[in-house]
Amino acid sequence: IPVETFDLVIFGGTGDLARRKILPGLFRRFRSGQMPEGSRIIGAARSDLDQAGYRQMIADAVAEFGGEEKKDSKGLDAFIETLDYVAIDAKGDGGWAKLAEIVRKDVVQAFYFSVAPSLFGDLAERLHTNNIANEQSRIVVEKPFGRDLETARALNETLATHFDESQIYRIDHYLGKETVQNLMAVRFGNMLFEPLWNNHYVDHIQVTVAETVGVGGRGAYYDKSGAMRDMVQNHLMQLLCLIAMEPPSQFGADEVRDEKLKVIRALQPVEPHHIVRGQYDAGPNGPSYREDAENARSFTESFIAMKCEIANWRWAGVPFYLRTGKRMKARSSEITVVFKDLGHSIFEGDEARHRNILSIRLQPNEGMDLQVTIKEPGPGGMRLIDVPLDMTFADALGPDAEEVPDAYERLIMDVIRGNQTLFMRGDEVEAAWRWTDPLINGWEARNDVPKLYDAGSAGPEDALAMMHRDGRRWREIKA
Ligand code: BG6
Repeated sequence: IPVETFDLVIFGGTGDLARRKILPGLFRRFRSGQMPEGSRIIGAARSDLDQAGYRQMIADAVAEFGGEEKKDSKGLDAFIETLDYVAIDAKGDGGWAKLAEIVRKDVVQAFYFSVAPSLFGDLAERLHTNNIANEQSRIVVEKPFGRDLETARALNETLATHFDESQIYRIDHYLGKETVQNLMAVRFGNMLFEPLWNNHYVDHIQVTVAETVGVGGRGAYYDKSGAMRDMVQNHLMQLLCLIAMEPPSQFGADEVRDEKLKVIRALQPVEPHHIVRGQYDAGPNGPSYREDAENARSFTESFIAMKCEIANWRWAGVPFYLRTGKRMKARSSEITVVFKDLGHSIFEGDEARHRNILSIRLQPNEGMDLQVTIKEPGPGGMRLIDVPLDMTFADALGPDAEEVPDAYERLIMDVIRGNQTLFMRGDEVEAAWRWTDPLINGWEARNDVPKLYDAGSAGPEDALAMMHRDGRRWREIKA
């Protein structure tokens, strides 16, 4: 679907996300010729900058945070010509008349709320009272979308006062990742996997999102959030939905989101002994979580592992083990589907104990790997070994494959195209909080203290023990 000419207003246009992700991403789209002639990007923030000042700020940001593309100085000069800036007061009148003058009515209008959620209502309202937005305008909002069900509901209601659900694009940048979309392609584009994708054939599923970074620099936000709110309620939940959902009747926004919603609703409450919370300790390469968060008495988790169940016909009895953490041994995100043992093996002894394992790597080295059992070559009789059928996407697609777009650039272009498939619907976000709230309230009421783990490790011992009790093992975390 072609992208039409647009005016994109970024509230919080001088902020971290805008400078690190949104604008470098837009520059890449611009360079690959996907930003239509005449489109404009308008930064709007409190800072008292003018157009030239903003252009300079963004040129610097691309130089600092961009990838390969930042070497293209001619391209960058042309790109920053598309930028404008309005100093705006979200809670007052300042700047709104100017914004109304600049934003055109006859092109696609998108307003990116890259600001604290407490300002969503003010922005939405002023876009209307100043006659800037209309029924076709789109708004983009970022996580955190609330910190529990109540606040998420209030945000949804605020936005709904001014915009229809079809105009609201709630970003979860994991849905913009190439391999996350590939998960749907793999499941629903092949005959091979879907017939086996259920409790008859699958023993269990693991989802790991391990990071090496700590929370230094953003401790103030993170310490009030923790891994559950920061990663599980959104990113891991989205992965879980795409793995577990029924095939939608077509790849359409509501069809896909209806199926994801059913998965979230079928998630069972998690028993306290199926949740392990962890906090990283000081290590040779860095300070402890508490030092990073500047809170010597913090009980916030920087790691969480949990065993979840989806109560429906497809998945009853199949545990989904989720785990995510900061300052772990490698940056590695992977979904692993472990198939059941054979019902009967014609081979003897140890030779019977082989399993198929499908792993889908989200990052780094996006790809898939299917462990299959074959005969070890040689005359020594029927010895079986497991070998990987490895498909690293970059190798499989060859050097001419299009550069993988960053999650943000993909999603922003979807906003302009008016495609909501990869965005969260309001009811989905609320359902996710409805599931996480009692878990968080539960550990707060129990005064749960997170287990310390060594920075650079695979997380607390208890997370390993949780798996061992079930006679299973986590996949090794490796880059
Ligand atoms: C963000 C979280 O949403 O996702 C961060 O707030 C986290 O804490 C980040 O580091 C991970 O994203 P990615 O794309 O680096 O896996």
